Amino acid sequence: MCIICLVAFLFCITAVQCSSSNTSKLIEDSGQSFMERMNMGKTSFIYFGNDVNPTIKQFLDQLEMSADALEDYGISVAKVNCSKEAIASYCTDEKLMTKAYLFRGSEVLRSFDIDTVFDVNAIVSHVLFTVLFNEVRYVHTPSELLLVENAAKQMRDVVVGHIPVLGLPEHRALMEAAFVYGSKYQFVQTTGAPILKHMGVDDLSSSQTRLWFMHCKDVSNQIDRCPCTPMRKPLDTINIHTFLQLMEAPLVTETTADPSEVNVIHNHLSVPVLYLFSQPQTKHLDGVTAQTVALQLRGEVGVVLVHRDSANVKTPLQYNAAYQLPQEDVKYITVNSAEEIVKHFKEELIQENKMIEDEEENNEEHLSDLDILDDEVSESLYRDRDVMLDLESVTELTSDSFQSAVTQNKITVVLFYYKWDAVCMAFMHTYIEVADALEDVNGLVLAAVDCGEWTDICSDQNVTSFPIIMIYRPIEASQVYRGMLGTNSLQKFILLSLISGPVSLSSSAEVLSFLEGDLYRKHADLSSIRVLGLFTSVHDAGVTAFEEAAKLLRGETIIGLFAHKEAEKWVEGLSVNLPALLVSRGPQVSREAYYLPSSSAEDLVSFIQRAVLDPFPELTVENLPWHLQLGKPLLLLFVGKYDSTESTTSLAEMKHLLSSGQLHSFLPCWIHLGRTPIGRSVLEKFLGFVPPLPALVISQLSAGGEVFLFPPGRPLKAENILQWLRAVEKRDEYPAGVIPDKEWGPSVPFYDFLAIMDQEAPGYASQRGPKMKTGSKESHREQKDKGSNQRQTTHSSSNPHKPHKHSEL
Ligand SMILES: *[C@@H]1O[C@H](CO)[C@@H](O)[C@H](O)[C@H]1NC(C)=O
Ligand SMILES: *[C@@H]1O[C@H](CO)[C@@H](O)[C@H](O)[C@H]1NC(C)=O
Ligand SMILES: *[C@@H]1O[C@H](CO)[C@@H](O)[C@H](O)[C@H]1NC(C)=O
Repeated sequence: MCIICLVAFLFCITAVQCSSSNTSKLIEDSGQSFMERMNMGKTSFIYFGNDVNPTIKQFLDQLEMSADALEDYGISVAKVNCSKEAIASYCTDEKLMTKAYLFRGSEVLRSFDIDTVFDVNAIVSHVLFTVLFNEVRYVHTPSELLLVENAAKQMRDVVVGHIPVLGLPEHRALMEAAFVYGSKYQFVQTTGAPILKHMGVDDLSSSQTRLWFMHCKDVSNQIDRCPCTPMRKPLDTINIHTFLQLMEAPLVTETTADPSEVNVIHNHLSVPVLYLFSQPQTKHLDGVTAQTVALQLRGEVGVVLVHRDSANVKTPLQYNAAYQLPQEDVKYITVNSAEEIVKHFKEELIQENKMIEDEEENNEEHLSDLDILDDEVSESLYRDRDVMLDLESVTELTSDSFQSAVTQNKITVVLFYYKWDAVCMAFMHTYIEVADALEDVNGLVLAAVDCGEWTDICSDQNVTSFPIIMIYRPIEASQVYRGMLGTNSLQKFILLSLISGPVSLSSSAEVLSFLEGDLYRKHADLSSIRVLGLFTSVHDAGVTAFEEAAKLLRGETIIGLFAHKEAEKWVEGLSVNLPALLVSRGPQVSREAYYLPSSSAEDLVSFIQRAVLDPFPELTVENLPWHLQLGKPLLLLFVGKYDSTESTTSLAEMKHLLSSGQLHSFLPCWIHLGRTPIGRSVLEKFLGFVPPLPALVISQLSAGGEVFLFPPGRPLKAENILQWLRAVEKRDEYPAGVIPDKEWGPSVPFYDFLAIMDQEAPGYASQRGPKMKTGSKESHREQKDKGSNQRQTTHSSSNPHKPHKHSEL
């Protein structure tokens, strides 16, 4: 494919008028073509209308332009004329209809009032923002930004765009960059003033858009902030692209060539280059100076350190620096200090920036920048844009190879996708990452089927939503992956899938080793939970259904089966009869036992899923929003970084209280400050100080944001905790802090997270999986929720179909 065409395309998407074809991409759907579209699973933006007034006419013109632009992202744009085809639930009786909908398949991702999507920029930015809502994080407060930052450390760099007004060209430029670079960087969008202040911007009143690059990839500890470089040029597609290239370039380039011969990426990006010279005697010091200068000029000027002892360097000794402005020759200068150089350059830049801004008035001129991008740059652009190029570790299946692949390998994981679907392509990156990581696993193949090309396979496999992942094993029915579309969850699922379901155990010794996690020790990181079905004999009526359920749960949970006369021994003293289910959450943790009802495999699946859900969860940044959904006051135990006896005992005391059913009006949970360092700042914000750990806190999030602290110094014993809880309920205790909601907005950093997500992407909170989901996944989640609610409220229910819980404690 022509590389220059691709670059040209990128520029075209910012300037619609350079589109050479005059044919409209806006499709008018009939009832039938609308139905077909719904069934294809493709992403489409559709306006349903009746009469046309001037406002709607204007919108339709813009819609037509956006059809061109969105086609490049695999999103089709259509309109339905309701006076010709009355399509149920979208066509209404209104004469003037003002709603447009973004669909993926038949699922509405979001509806927009045409006031919101008022022009082509607004349409493109809002549609891309919705489609990429897992890729682009919306952040409102500094603490939320900190969460993103911490999660990105050691993984990827973060690009933060401050967009005060949505739907303008700057918003579109950011979203288009996120589409192209979203697999490489974590994109963040923010609108709020608190972030500006946090980033050190003084003029909070300005409605200027801004962009920062946070260098998080190389930060390995949780304490340091990621170094941050602001982009100083106006936020448009070319400037963002240039800026990101600059961020990838080395801070200082060393060379033995003469400045006039040097060729660095900055030359190609029309960025000034500064040359500093290094002498053999002062090599180290010169290096440090160059780094210091480069840090101050990062993103604006490239810094090159020239080793003067090289025979190639012709610069006369009287000069100790040189610079080169775009399209100009190298100029040699003598300076006295590093500060002088920086000052000199900042002044040059101000001049130059003025010039650039003047030039930008003229679009033709602007487009001539095209020539400047050399092949190296455009190639990386090409690579980032089209991840399909790098499918090495993923086997592409065709009609001919599909059957043999899924019947010959021990496990074949197949991703069904559409090349033109933005979500599929965004996910492809994750999938390749997983495939790379699992390349050496025996008997495992990660494959992909392009449903645009191999429609027959996809219809045979009943694939209706995209992207979707299915697991195939010889002879057995295929299994749908229902987890989140992220690297970690998918990888975990696949590795756990390799374990047979159920693991068949033949002696009490094996049972012990299974429950304590010695068996499958190398999977301990993936899941510390072991679930065991206990039956008196393999001929028991329930065994078949249990085996079937264990198969369906492969990848989610490690499940064992012990059908043996010694099974009785494992429920002794637990007041549960066989058949029973034991849940072990790790060695030295008391096990929970449930009576196993005799029911179908599907019912057993949800029974086991409910039993496995942790009643006393450890909160992490990822799972907190899920637990908060229950809407209960948090009873939060903060334990220190190092596992002390106090931590262990206090955790055990809490579990004891929990199993006695006395905490039902709270969500008891704990945070390990070592694993979740943000917990410390939460605590600090709750109380204004960090008390000795472990610390127990109630936060009445719903009732005025009061925070209560269990008196430090009093032993964290079950009876003391109960006494304190009663005192808090009777309001005999004074709050130790109030969640400061003025200054910080939603300052419990997590709490308003869902509300914010919901504002930005309605339905997010209720869907709760961060990615677009299939219907089946939705119901799966709902089941889980119901399970956890039921457990809290019907604790000692005698209904045999609810987990009836006993603990060894
Ligand atoms: C392109 O379309 C516009 C408006 O529909 C029309 O006025 C113009 O003549 C067309 N140009 C070409 C080259 O077809
Ligand atoms: C629908 O069709 C009618 C009749 O052809 C036309 O007057 C009206 O403008 C069309 N509406 C839209 C939204 O295209
Ligand atoms: C697809 O669905 C049909 C009808 O429900 C069923 O008979 C067939 O076995 C399914 N195919 C697969 C591969 O699941």
